[in-house]
Amino acid sequence: MSRKPIIAGNWKMHNNCAQTIELIEGLKQELKDIDKNLLPEVVIAPVFTSLYVADEELKKCGCNKISLAAQNCYYEPKGAFTGEIAIDMLKDFNLKYIIIGHSERRQYFNETDEMINKKAKAILENGILPIVCCGETLEQRERGITDSHIQSQITKAFDGISAEDTAKSVIAYEPIWAIGTGKTCDSIEANRVIKMIRETIKSLKGDMAANSIRILYGGSVKPETIDEQMAQSDIDGALVGGASLKADSFAKIVKGAMAKAGV
Ligand code: 13P
Repeated sequence: MSRKPIIAGNWKMHNNCAQTIELIEGLKQELKDIDKNLLPEVVIAPVFTSLYVADEELKKCGCNKISLAAQNCYYEPKGAFTGEIAIDMLKDFNLKYIIIGHSERRQYFNETDEMINKKAKAILENGILPIVCCGETLEQRERGITDSHIQSQITKAFDGISAEDTAKSVIAYEPIWAIGTGKTCDSIEANRVIKMIRETIKSLKGDMAANSIRILYGGSVKPETIDEQMAQSDIDGALVGGASLKADSFAKIVKGAMAKAGV
C-alpha cells in the first residue's frame, strides 16, 4: 500500500517570530510552483512562541502546502504545572502534529516512556497526531541492543492505544549518534530498523496499523542524502533538524521526497 511521505522540519530552539516569518516566506517561495498533490506532506515545527505567527503566515495567501507541528506538549489539560503547555492551548494554532519523545527531551529533560505514552494518548484524544521519536545511543548500538531498546520504546509509547489511532500516528526513528553530528545512518541499516519497528507495530496492533503508520528517518538528513533514503522500501520520509533551518536546503529535501509522493 502507498503511504503519503512526510518531510518534517524540527526547528528545535531556533527562530524568533521575525525569523519564523522569514523562513516560512522563503519556503512558500521555494514551493510555490509545485502542485500540492505532487508534494509530500510538508510539516514545520517552530518553537511554541512562534506558533501564532507561523499559523498566521501559513493562512496568508491560503498556503495549504505546509502543516504545523509543535515540538512538545504536556498531557494534563490544565493546572499548576508552571512552564508547561496543554494540548488544548496548542489547538489555537491549527496543529496537525505534535512531536513527542525526542531524544533531546528524553536526555536533557528526563522524559520517560511512561510520560511519552500519556502524551501520545492525550494528543490523539484531542484530534491531533503524535510524531513519536525513538532511537538508540551509540553505546546501545555498540552493545548490540539497538533492536530490543527500540522495541521497548515503541511498545511502551503505544501501550493502550487502539490500532486505528496507531495507524494514523507517525514514528520517527532517530539514532541519537546521528543527530546533529553530520553522521547519517546508512540507508540500508535505517531501513532495516524501520522495518523492525513496523514488525513491532504489527505484532502489537495488527496488519492494518503496521501497513498504515508512517515511519520517518531522522539524523543529519541533508539534500545529498534524501534520494537514497527515500528509495528504501520502508522509509516514509524524514524528520529534519539543521537542514530545515534554511528554506533552500529544506525545499531540496522536500523535492527529494516527491518521487514517492506523487503516487
Ligand atoms: P539533525 O538533522 O540536525 O541531525 O537533527 C535531527 C533531529 O533531531 C530531528 O528531530
